[in-house]
Amino acid sequence: MIVPLSEGHEKNRSLIGGKAKNLSTLMKLGISVPNGFIVSSSAFLNFIKANRLGSQINHYMKTMSNPYIKINELFQSHTIPSDLEKEIKEAYDNLTFSHDIINVSVRSSASAEDLQDQSFAGQYETCLNIGSFDRLLKSIKKCWASVWSDQALQYLHTVNIDIKEVKISVLVQAMVQADTSGVAFSINPVTLSYDEIIINASYGLGEPIVSGLITPDLFIISKHDHKILHKELGLKEFKLVGQADGTKETPTSEQEIKSFSLNFDQINRITNITKKIEHYYQYPVDIEFTVKENEINVLQVRPITTVKGVVQS
Ligand SMILES: Nc1ncnc2c1ncn2[C@@H]1O[C@H](COP(=O)(O)OP(=O)(O)OP(=O)(O)O)[C@@H](O)[C@H]1O
Ligand SMILES: [Mg+2]
Repeated sequence: MIVPLSEGHEKNRSLIGGKAKNLSTLMKLGISVPNGFIVSSSAFLNFIKANRLGSQINHYMKTMSNPYIKINELFQSHTIPSDLEKEIKEAYDNLTFSHDIINVSVRSSASAEDLQDQSFAGQYETCLNIGSFDRLLKSIKKCWASVWSDQALQYLHTVNIDIKEVKISVLVQAMVQADTSGVAFSINPVTLSYDEIIINASYGLGEPIVSGLITPDLFIISKHDHKILHKELGLKEFKLVGQADGTKETPTSEQEIKSFSLNFDQINRITNITKKIEHYYQYPVDIEFTVKENEINVLQVRPITTVKGVVQS
């Protein structure tokens, strides 16, 4: 029921979800991705079955318009079957001891037969910088319960997909205490120019950027010769940083607001990584990345679904 992230590329998407499968593929390509493991969708089903939660979930679904809080309470008040918990503990100990890290991120990795991963953007829970095994178990249950979150249910209703088709897995990864994070697009998603790479970046962890809570710095780069065609300082209203267990919002300093959050060398390397990933998939992609002491890690890759067609190289 647990799959090492490094082995995810050979597993079924419905078992480990799109996010984990794509990241594992990048690892295989030699791109830096924080190490981790996947609590597969069969673990999720095992938890519900072992605790006989099906009829209670159905009851909440029938009687409440927003059942998420109740279902999360239900999940938190039941224990993960001991053999599954043991497997998770082993994987967690391996990750934290062997890599000398303490904190992890706990990220939902969803899939459904008829939907691309992109369609699930931002729907399910993410818990960053989790600092203990006990909190890890709580966070896994939170990710599972977010299948019934208000926005996720509404979305499924809009696209006419039965909730039973949704498979939820959870990706647990070593936490990078990022200096700067951001998103890169292998084409210009606004003009649809295939000759440009767009990078949005800001200080700290990337969640406020991907959730649209802050205005990041913007860089437009020529895909051909990596020249910076345009750059614009963002307001970078605040930054999210790790604390002992969890994260906190802190103000961005005057100096940080006045400075670009990426230097030329970092922009160049992110451009190279983005091009490499686009070349591998043969279609336009967006990636989520993080920079720590000059090391660049990729945290997600998705097709840009607003464009059709294959990338010309
Ligand atoms: N291990 C990690 N180390 C550092 N930052 C991380 C880590 N895991 C996640 N993050 C940050 O949190 C951001 C959000 O996480 P995640 O991609 O799981 O959720 P989301 O982008 O809000 O929704 P989704 O990707 O499910 O549509 C990532 O883009 C990344 O910046
Ligand atoms: Mg994401």
